[in-house]
Amino acid sequence: MRSSILPFCCSSAIRIFAPYCHRIRFKNMTTGNLNEPPSKSVNKIQRILHSNSTNGWDKCWEEGFTPWDLGSPTPVLVHLNNKGSLPKGRALVPGCGSGHDVVAIACAERYVVGLDISDNAIKKAAELFSSTPKAEHFTFLKGDFFTWSSAQLFDLIFDYTFFCAIEPELRSQWARKISDLLKPDGELITLMFPIDDHEGGPPYKVSTADYEEVLHPVGFRATQIVDNELAIAPRRGREKLGRWKRTALQSSL
Ligand SMILES: C[S@@+](CC[C@H](N)C(=O)[O-])C[C@H]1O[C@@H](n2cnc3c(N)ncnc32)[C@H](O)[C@@H]1O
Repeated sequence: MRSSILPFCCSSAIRIFAPYCHRIRFKNMTTGNLNEPPSKSVNKIQRILHSNSTNGWDKCWEEGFTPWDLGSPTPVLVHLNNKGSLPKGRALVPGCGSGHDVVAIACAERYVVGLDISDNAIKKAAELFSSTPKAEHFTFLKGDFFTWSSAQLFDLIFDYTFFCAIEPELRSQWARKISDLLKPDGELITLMFPIDDHEGGPPYKVSTADYEEVLHPVGFRATQIVDNELAIAPRRGREKLGRWKRTALQSSL
């Protein structure tokens, strides 16, 4: 199984998912009932993931159980884009979901590829955004990040809630793939979440050290690691922004 679905018990999943998924605190995603507790939604997500080991993510999207989805672009990414701090050229968003981040940073100077393993996620992204005026500056592709390849390399890769969604044993493979897909002077931006100590997943807990452990061997070093002060409220304090590049020394080896 390539992407991530391991058993987790109900109570720990509620603890993990509730802060991860701020919207289910307010609206049960099964019934739309504002008074219903989130457990039903979480249980249903677990059932979907457990009973569909090869296409659990797609089932989640098909059934509309996507509590990780902010329904809008990630605030810190918009901030970085607005202040001109993101590389231009070609960008990749692996595990792009419904595509808000893809569209947010697409522009005439930056072509963005949103990649997701789920047909239904890609369908949703296309429905939401294919008729926007920006549409010529991005594309959504269905593909498995670990086997997908691109004829053209990227200047920027943005990872948010993809690293924590994959099985931890795939993290080294994730780093090698990032390395393969980025131009030698390209930049990786990771929004690292959830930084806590829960067990199990997805989402699996992450730490700066977890990223370093897999990125250092492929030549990346952090140029910046900071708390994400623009994190949405339920994630605040458990999210860091990491910016990574290959060092001159490593890229010449
Ligand atoms: C937790 S969601 C995050 C979505 C989006 N980044 C966001 O923040 O809303 C993880 C996404 O990764 C996708 N995914 C899981 N495994 C994948 C893989 N191997 N290749 C590409 N996408 C994958 C899932 O379909 C899902 O849309």
